[in-house]
Amino acid sequence: MRFVFLTDTHFGDGIPGYYQQIPYHNKINSIMDALKDWIKQDGNIDFVMHGGDMIHECSAESLKQAVDLFQFDMPFYHTLGNHDLDVENSLELWLEHAPHFFNGGKPEYSLEFDGITLHSITSHYGEDSFFWGPTQDFRFDPPEHEKLIEKVAKPGIHIVVVHVPAFGIPAVQMGTENEHHPIIESYNKDILALREACPNLACVLSGHLHINSCKIDGDTAFVTCAALTESPFEFKVVEIDEKQINMQTISLIDQVDFKANYDFEKTSTQGRPIDRNFSFEF
Ligand SMILES: [Fe+2]
Ligand SMILES: [Fe+2]
Repeated sequence: MRFVFLTDTHFGDGIPGYYQQIPYHNKINSIMDALKDWIKQDGNIDFVMHGGDMIHECSAESLKQAVDLFQFDMPFYHTLGNHDLDVENSLELWLEHAPHFFNGGKPEYSLEFDGITLHSITSHYGEDSFFWGPTQDFRFDPPEHEKLIEKVAKPGIHIVVVHVPAFGIPAVQMGTENEHHPIIESYNKDILALREACPNLACVLSGHLHINSCKIDGDTAFVTCAALTESPFEFKVVEIDEKQINMQTISLIDQVDFKANYDFEKTSTQGRPIDRNFSFEF
């Protein structure tokens, strides 16, 4: 299984809210063209996976445009992020306009390539599922979490994609005194419970923080990816078989058809070498 993982495109974001590097949301068409060219040249990608916050604000119009933009010559899948769910009828809108972004037409799904199973689960943000209201009280829907525990307990190698990561960014990476964006304990425990249940959870892939990070704990890599639409336009290539996993971070800054700047005061966004690339055997 070899796939592209990208995240936090924030399509339609006129005035950028949260960002880590210089945002170029208005250049998303050029960035997507560069990505599609890269995939074509590589010639060996099975599918493309988006880690959430595809659109900045959820509406029928932005979803229709996103469906046009996120067309690939191969399967494309999405895991919902908080910005994808910022109106009360978000799920209804997604299922009406973009059900094909979810394998089987529902946001909780699994897919299997070459004997490796990837699972998508939605992070929720308060008592109302599939609606990011005023709180960032990260949680899972208990029945869906339970179902996923059962799925990952099955033999074989598993990957989980979830928008909000299990961990914040360590202070040592950020050059700060404290961890960046610490994650509430109950949510962290719920992700770690998946690892406890799983004989081989190779990787948990996330977005949300717009920063590249990687924490390898035992045989599991907890990865967050920078936002594709922020300079230098990075995504991951994950290659995995029953023996090993390899992840690389790729930048499109030399491929886009416009001149992009970069904030050298915030190189921590791109991560240390260990946050960008890794390879290990099971
Ligand atoms: Fe985001
Ligand atoms: Fe997010």
